[in-house]
Parts: sequence; structure tokens; C-alpha cells
Amino acid sequence: MTSLFEHKPTTVAPIELLNNFSDLDNREFLDEYNKTLEILKNKIGEPYYANSGYILYHADNDDILKKLSDNYFKVDLTVTSPPYNIGKEYEKNMDTEDYIAWCKTWIDLIYHVTNDNGSFWLNVGYLTIKGKGKAVPISYLLWDKTDFYLMQEIVWKYGAGVTAKKFFAPRNEKFLFYIKNQKDYIFNLDAVRDKNVKYPNQKKNGKLRCNPLGKNPTDVWDFPKVTSGKNRSSKERTSHPAQYPLSVIDRVIKVSSHKYNIVLDPFSGSGTTGIASHGNHRIYIGIEINKDYCDLSIERFENYLNEKAEKSNTLF
Ligand SMILES: C[S@@+](CC[C@H](N)C(=O)[O-])C[C@H]1O[C@@H](n2cnc3c(N)ncnc32)[C@H](O)[C@@H]1O
Repeated sequence: MTSLFEHKPTTVAPIELLNNFSDLDNREFLDEYNKTLEILKNKIGEPYYANSGYILYHADNDDILKKLSDNYFKVDLTVTSPPYNIGKEYEKNMDTEDYIAWCKTWIDLIYHVTNDNGSFWLNVGYLTIKGKGKAVPISYLLWDKTDFYLMQEIVWKYGAGVTAKKFFAPRNEKFLFYIKNQKDYIFNLDAVRDKNVKYPNQKKNGKLRCNPLGKNPTDVWDFPKVTSGKNRSSKERTSHPAQYPLSVIDRVIKVSSHKYNIVLDPFSGSGTTGIASHGNHRIYIGIEINKDYCDLSIERFENYLNEKAEKSNTLF
């Protein structure tokens, strides 16, 4: 069978996503996964694919999210990037008002299925609104259309992107970081500290000025985009037209969830959130409406598992 895309070793970055866990950790992770899978099978129905902590439903997310909500099933973290209504092959074109209303329906459902100390990270770009704006940040349209509490907006900046002659070439997208409960939410800052500190040994009154684990990575994040094109394609690129990078999602998962927690992506695409979840020992639930993308993401996940196994074999 010919592969749906080229996925060769070294396509996983950050490479720590290939690290192995202890036998005890693996057993506990699989126990939690099996329990979650049983509940889902009983309450929601058989997934399209389930393997080693990665669960994928081939469905409209509205259907699955409603079933989860009706069954009081809760997730700890949702990380997702929806269609931006910009004419991509997987999108239906909508009026801006209809687009906002549609987004509100699934954002509301995500709120209902989120644990009280859980978070929701929404990645959005820009759209054009005829007669009103050329590159209108989708975050301006959506930020308050929810009962979630907006903690902040993260600017994800990158080097490559579309060219422009009569306006500035866009080189950022946003992540809206929402929580449910201002008094109790997961925020593992030490897990994501930036080790790139200019004067790590600088002291004040005999004490180190900077945390030895590194500095706060701030609300502007610099991660390369997943690029496509001859000689410039990122190694992790699949044939999905709108992949976000593992490195960004790795940071989100580390900061906003604990090991064995449940991470949801209702617009699963090529399964980036799933691989970043697995690499951090989180249980993944993905929902994807397009069967080809489901199959592509399963192949990508299985290649990733093989790559992980190969890496662990070379250590002995
Ligand atoms: C921006 S892409 C997500 C890409 C993903 N973050 C990745 O890294 O591959 C949006 C995805 O949502 C899917 N989608 C669109 N409407 C959907 C729906 N109602 N339910 C589930 N998936 C949907 C599309 O097929 C597409 O794969």
C-alpha cells in the first residue's frame, strides 16, 4: 500500500515526545486509558480507532460533544484549531454571523464537557469580512462568546507565511487561553520554563535572580510554522492542509494538564494534538469529520509509535 504521506524518522519535534516512560507509568497510563475507553464505548459508541491512549471518532463533533455532555463525561483540556472560514478544502463557506454562531455552538459544548479545573486553548488566525476588514483576527470575533474565563491571548509568531504587497504579511496566529474556574486551574509553569536565560548566575542579595529552571516563556511564543512546498516543507508535514506544529501543542499540554489527564481535540485533522498528548502521557480523544484525514492521522500516529519503539530499542 502506498503511504498517504511521507513520514520519516526525525519528523517528531520536540524529540522528547519520543521518550519512554517507566513500566509503572506505562501500566498506570494504560489502566486510565482502558477505563476511559470503556466509558466512551458504553456511553458514546465504538470509536473509529483506539490504540495505546489514542481514541479517534470519525464524526461531526457536534454529535459526539452532545453525547459526551448528555453523559456528564468530562475532559481536562481541549486544544483545537477550527476551520477559519477562509475557503480551505475542508470548509463550508459561511457568512461571518453564521460562522460566529456555529463556533459558539461547539465552544458551549466544550464548556459543558470540561472539568471544573480544566482549560480550553483555541488557536485562530484571520479572516476577511467584505467591506469591513482584510485580515480581521478571529479572536476579536470569538473571545467573549463563551462562559469560559479568558485568561489571556498568546501570540504565536513564526517566520514563514503568505506574501503581501499592499499590507503587512501576517506572521502570527493567536491562542486564546481559557479556564473554567479562576480559583482552581492547572498551570504547570515549571514544566514549560524557557531555559534560554541570558545571565543565569546573576544574583541579588546572594540569591539567584532567575529561577534555575528558566524564565517564564511570556505571552509571545516563537515556534516555526508547519510549512509546505518543495525544498521548504517541514519534516513533520503531512498532506493535511492546516497542520499546527507539535512544539506549540506540546507546551500547551504540559502547562495545562497533568499526566493521565484527558485531552480533547474536536477538530483533530492530522492528529497533532493526539501525538503531543501521547508523548506527554495524556489520554487523547480526537473527533474528525473527514475520513481521509482520520486515516491519515492514524497512519501518522502508528508511524510515531514505531519511531518511539525504534528509539527505545537503540538504547539497549
Ligand atoms: C484547522 S484543521 C485542524 C488541523 C489540526 N490542528 C492539525 O494539526 O492537523 C480543522 C479540521 O476540522 C475538521 N472539521 C471541520 N468541521 C468539523 C466538524 N463539524 N466536526 C469534526 N471535524 C471537523 C476538518 O476536516 C479539518 O481537518
